[in-house]
Amino acid sequence: MDVTALSQPDRYPLSATYDPAWLLGLDMGPHPLWQLEDLLKDLDVRPGARVLDLGCGKGATSVFLARELDVDVVAFDLWVEEDELRSNLEAHGVADRVTAVNGDVRDLPFDDDEFDVIVSIDAFEYFGTDVRILPSVLRVLKPAGALGMTTPALRTDPYESSPPTYVTDVIGWEAAGWHAPDWWETHWRLSGLVDNITARMQEQGREDWVRWSRALGEDEDGPVISMLMADHDDQIGISIVSAQKKVKP
Ligand SMILES: C[S@@+](CC[C@H](N)C(=O)[O-])C[C@H]1O[C@@H](n2cnc3c(N)ncnc32)[C@H](O)[C@@H]1O
Repeated sequence: MDVTALSQPDRYPLSATYDPAWLLGLDMGPHPLWQLEDLLKDLDVRPGARVLDLGCGKGATSVFLARELDVDVVAFDLWVEEDELRSNLEAHGVADRVTAVNGDVRDLPFDDDEFDVIVSIDAFEYFGTDVRILPSVLRVLKPAGALGMTTPALRTDPYESSPPTYVTDVIGWEAAGWHAPDWWETHWRLSGLVDNITARMQEQGREDWVRWSRALGEDEDGPVISMLMADHDDQIGISIVSAQKKVKP
């Protein structure tokens, strides 16, 4: 397993301080800390803030948020059980600042306006295309609070042109949810509930995904690396989207 390419201190200085083997052991998708560190350039997160990590998976991003930003985090996920998540948090000495909660974004067990910031890494593609989700996520965010997410994307939106076959051969129908940044900008703007939307492709998102897959030990002719290497038009990447909840909708 070649993990040297996972140290990119010039591009991701904070992520470079984390043990790649630890991170790979929590794998649920492309390098979550690189996505988060990039997303944070668009968000104002103050020390002491209460942050919801929505779809946190096994908790790597929640550890990062607590350690790097000195915030209190709720690590929220559907597929990963609370016990597993909690033991990952305890192993990193952040259990006093991060609370593990298992649940579904469609029924968030939190008070109105409870969080200062909501982040979500590589999870919105599973639920965020439903127009009902953004209002229910924003319910638990304070007015003027920040929401930011990253999600696999196609530069030419799937609703504009059918996804390339080298993508659908691997991803199947789920590629219809790999929306381009402009699609997310429109989707969120039409809600009428957010201001200051930014939506962009992550620079080198596809190359970063290749680095991650190689570090995981996938063969060069494995499905994900083959898909990424077939992408000569640079269609595949990561959408990075953020916005601010309106004070008065
Ligand atoms: C691809 S994994 C990414 C996990 C983690 N953020 C990371 O980057 O390693 C997607 C995550 O979204 C979560 N998820 C999917 N649907 C969800 C839902 N309806 N409510 C809450 N979380 C959900 C899953 O439990 C899963 O952990």
